[in-house]
Amino acid sequence: MTMPARTRDELLSALFWQVEIGADAAFLDSPPGAAETTPLAAFMPTAKKADTPPAAAAMPPEKSGPPLKSGRAFSGLPASQPAAHPDLNRLDSLPALQKALADFEGCSLKHTASNLVFADGNPQAKIMLIGEAPGRDEDRMGLPFVGPAGQLLDRMLAAIGLDRSQVYITNILPWRPPGNRTPTAEETALLWPFLRRHIQLKAPQIILALGGSSAKLLLDSQTGILKLRGQMREVDFGLPARLPVLPSLHPAYLLRSPAQKKLAWADLLTLRHFLDKLPPDKTDPDAAMATESARSNPAGD
Ligand code: URA
Repeated sequence: MTMPARTRDELLSALFWQVEIGADAAFLDSPPGAAETTPLAAFMPTAKKADTPPAAAAMPPEKSGPPLKSGRAFSGLPASQPAAHPDLNRLDSLPALQKALADFEGCSLKHTASNLVFADGNPQAKIMLIGEAPGRDEDRMGLPFVGPAGQLLDRMLAAIGLDRSQVYITNILPWRPPGNRTPTAEETALLWPFLRRHIQLKAPQIILALGGSSAKLLLDSQTGILKLRGQMREVDFGLPARLPVLPSLHPAYLLRSPAQKKLAWADLLTLRHFLDKLPPDKTDPDAAMATESARSNPAGD
């Protein structure tokens, strides 16, 4: 079927606009109200919507207020969004935290995402990996790091003898930002109390911060990731002891800049070295066997 050129151009431009604002997946076979409206009307933004920048439209107005923590670059919680956080300190398990997030109505990202992406891996693992936010594949599957960046992450872990059963993975945001845009400072601030409680309940022995957003948030720093990476810092997350945080490069960045993989490899070796120095975990059968064999054969013959 051929279409008049003007209508086709308008339809294409409307489609690109939808993709730009992140509406890149169809949830119904036909647009809502398709029977009563022309296809063009169903796809075109109204004049009012087009005047409003998409990101601003998605977020409530900002309120300036005290920063969450000195030096943290957050502009405060959104004013018109009474971010009724549940009493997170009362949540005493990871499943309880997951349910609290699923029930949380204070973040507009929840309404554009398909799934809550809480975590993957082993809740008993010594290592907690924290990325930025789910992408399209993660949003569809409800699991972090399952797309191309996640596949590279799996290969990076395998290079130092780890797999998903030996790590615990989550993100700063549990919902996909439309169009995979970078999380706003407001979204990060809004969801930080949940991530902080996540870290407390998980209580890992080390955190690997994947990418600049994660590293800057966890280290409360404005320094770029290329300067932060590879240097372990101990951070107070409200646990009895400060936790070491190792910033490294995000696998999605490594897919775009493969020449930087050598830097990520150096960071992985730092992580491996840290793990090797930890006292053996008596509940880990592999570690227990390795310790027993080292005891009965100290020379390693
Ligand atoms: N990038 C992230 O930071 N997290 C994911 O889960 C996937 C891609």
